[in-house]
Amino acid sequence: MERVLVIGGARALGAAVARRAAADGYEVVVGARDLAAAEALAHEIGATAVRVDLQDETTMAAAAARLTDGIDHVVTTGSAPHDVRAAELDHDQLVAAFTAKVIGPMLVAKHLGPVLRPNGSIVLFSGVVGWRPGPGSLVKGVTNGAVEHLARHLAADLAPVRVNAVSPGVVDSGAWDRLGEGKAGLLSRSAAGTLVGRHGEADDVVDAVMWLLRAGFVSGETIHVEGGARHRTA
Ligand SMILES: NC(=O)c1ccc[n+]([C@@H]2O[C@H](COP(=O)([O-])OP(=O)(O)OC[C@H]3O[C@@H](n4cnc5c(N)ncnc54)[C@H](OP(=O)(O)O)[C@@H]3O)[C@@H](O)[C@H]2O)c1
Repeated sequence: MERVLVIGGARALGAAVARRAAADGYEVVVGARDLAAAEALAHEIGATAVRVDLQDETTMAAAAARLTDGIDHVVTTGSAPHDVRAAELDHDQLVAAFTAKVIGPMLVAKHLGPVLRPNGSIVLFSGVVGWRPGPGSLVKGVTNGAVEHLARHLAADLAPVRVNAVSPGVVDSGAWDRLGEGKAGLLSRSAAGTLVGRHGEADDVVDAVMWLLRAGFVSGETIHVEGGARHRTA
């Protein structure tokens, strides 16, 4: 049975990946900075839980120490948005945003790379904003763009372990529920900006992640799951 660690696995897209992986017969380890939340989901889906905070390297070292018998895949979904214009940038929030998407996953590679089996893989999370610049999306855009390069360079560094990224468009993952009544407007605007005429669902993204776990001849790639949004010009 292949073992997959899902970081950010207690909520939204991470939880959807963890649920599907468990249903598909993977041994799942739910990794989250909130251990109680990870344990609750793990209990529900027949998995185990471990505390992983992408902002805290010691938790990655501790997770690796728990998994010395090997792991096949790591999926890392973490993000720490800092959606402001350049004039409002806050240094610490900027660093946190890069840490969740780029620095944290690099340190995950440092600590979990040694326990990854040779036919294993890492799946990173980027996002369509990396390819759609706009006011207020400076940090999200640059961090998501950096993930594409991270996948490519980490794939060369960790080979034969494969490293790929998924880049979602706007997906109704649960993350947008915080907008309340504003969520419907966001989803319909994003649908209008795609070629397929709808917003994304968690399953659209999970399908791509599960394919990447099995795609043994794919490494260093970013898979865009955004309904063709980058190709829509009007
Ligand atoms: N949903 C979309 O429309 C969309 C669009 C484009 C890209 N994406 C990308 O897809 C990924 C998943 O997004 P989502 O929709 O599931 O919602 P999200 O709110 O971005 O989820 C982020 C996940 O990362 C976890 N996380 C944040 N900081 C962490 C840290 N320091 N250590 C460990 N985990 C941490 C969160 O866990 P906590 O519960 O601890 O906060 C949560 O599980 C993100 O990278 C996001 O940028 C999503």
